[in-house]
Amino acid sequence: MIQILFIAICLFFHSSALKIGETCSKDSDCDTGLRCETCAANGNTRARCTRIQPIIPTSKVKNLPFNNYSWLTTHNSFARAGDKSSTGSFLLTSMNQQDTVASQLNNGVRGLMLDMYDFLNDIWLCHSYNGKCYNYTAFQPAINVLKDIQTFLEANPSEIVTIFIEDYVTSSQGLSKVFSAAGLNKYLFPVSRMPKDGGDWPTVDDMVQKNQRLLVFTSKRNKESEGFAYEWSYVVENQYGNGGMNSGSCPNRAESSPLNTTTRSLVLQNYFPDNPNATKVCADNSAPLASMLETCYEAAGKRWPNFIAVDYYQRSDGGGAPEVVDQANGHLTCGCDNIAYCKENATFGTCDVPPISPPPPAAGDTSTTSTQSSPNFASLGRPVLLQWLCGIILALALSFWL
Ligand SMILES: *[C@@H]1O[C@H](CO)[C@@H](O)[C@H](O)[C@H]1NC(C)=O
Ligand SMILES: *[C@@H]1O[C@H](CO)[C@@H](O)[C@H](O)[C@H]1NC(C)=O
Ligand SMILES: *[C@@H]1O[C@H](CO)[C@@H](O)[C@H](O)[C@H]1NC(C)=O
Ligand SMILES: *[C@@H]1O[C@H](CO)[C@@H](O)[C@H](O)[C@H]1NC(C)=O
Ligand SMILES: *[C@@H]1O[C@H](CO)[C@@H](O)[C@H](O)[C@H]1NC(C)=O
Repeated sequence: MIQILFIAICLFFHSSALKIGETCSKDSDCDTGLRCETCAANGNTRARCTRIQPIIPTSKVKNLPFNNYSWLTTHNSFARAGDKSSTGSFLLTSMNQQDTVASQLNNGVRGLMLDMYDFLNDIWLCHSYNGKCYNYTAFQPAINVLKDIQTFLEANPSEIVTIFIEDYVTSSQGLSKVFSAAGLNKYLFPVSRMPKDGGDWPTVDDMVQKNQRLLVFTSKRNKESEGFAYEWSYVVENQYGNGGMNSGSCPNRAESSPLNTTTRSLVLQNYFPDNPNATKVCADNSAPLASMLETCYEAAGKRWPNFIAVDYYQRSDGGGAPEVVDQANGHLTCGCDNIAYCKENATFGTCDVPPISPPPPAAGDTSTTSTQSSPNFASLGRPVLLQWLCGIILALALSFWL
């Protein structure tokens, strides 16, 4: 009987996966929502479990207006590293993400930035070269990714997705045709219901009940006649690219009203360089991103961003963009430093802060690992130790039994 209990306990610990910051050797060692990553750009060469999923804020603090939540957003969501063009050509253009839009949505990404062009008698997701799409900058027809979004909305009836279109489409009704062909029309949040004066958006429950769960913003004003909102009437954004990565400054991008314009109720924070850098991005997506969150909050007239847009959202040295989104959501939804600290039905600002808050600092423990000449227990992590202990107890128990 005792033996069976031991076996049960050991099986339990054996199957418990590694937590954030713990040393791992492969993705499957880590808990769900984590990946096994290093961040050499931050001097962190010890592979550790790293977050790739934010807390879905509506699951934690329910039914606030849409503008009281923050959403993880991918810059050039469609530009996946390693892809080949659907034209059959190789791609000679920048890559910004490492997984598909379908995978991004499953990981909790809720804002997608898509560049759309007229190309080969269709609408394509593409990068421009001198303002035009070429075979070697064209990823795939937009309908493929729009259908993935449709599949996600269908399978997740309480989730809300926002698309930001960098819109180069000039063909007549080009956008409406491709959205309709992808089966997305029925989910569109109508432009007529969007607050024009900086007022609150409807609550998320209202949007879910009415099934108006897809927000689409375009960079072209005249698309409102097709049912797509002109972004700059509803959203402010800081400068994108290198100009948005100077520590301590958060200027607005040229097309946007100043960030503190309160007649726009949605705030989007960009944080990625002109040229995506797959090795450096893990450092950018960590402490500097969190620091820019504070800077842009001040610049936006003490408003936390509703969208946080990054390259390679899965890359960081610990908590990364998902953690920063959780921080924005904590401030927005319950007045705490992280949505993980929000208490159910509590008054604003009443927080449940754990004694040790994740993630562990990356910089601090690289200095210790680099001075360690041999592996030690601390760097092995608790679950590994428990497995050892269990192994020994199990061996003893079995020998006793036999
Ligand atoms: C939602 O956000 C607005 C603007 O930031 C704020 O004034 C309001 O109090 C928030 N509402 C709730 C219910 O948290
Ligand atoms: C671009 O790709 C299309 C579709 O595969 C092909 O028909 C066309 O010839 C290609 N254009 C060039 C310039 O290679
Ligand atoms: C917005 O910020 C600018 C400085 O960038 C400042 O001059 C202006 O007064 C602010 N406007 C409001 C409405 O706070
Ligand atoms: C990416 O960033 C690293 C610094 O972390 C730098 O050494 C490298 O040259 C950069 N790569 C590109 C393509 O800019
Ligand atoms: C919070 O409020 C909801 C709705 O009023 C209620 O169903 C739920 O039981 C409450 N939870 C707690 C922990 O009080």
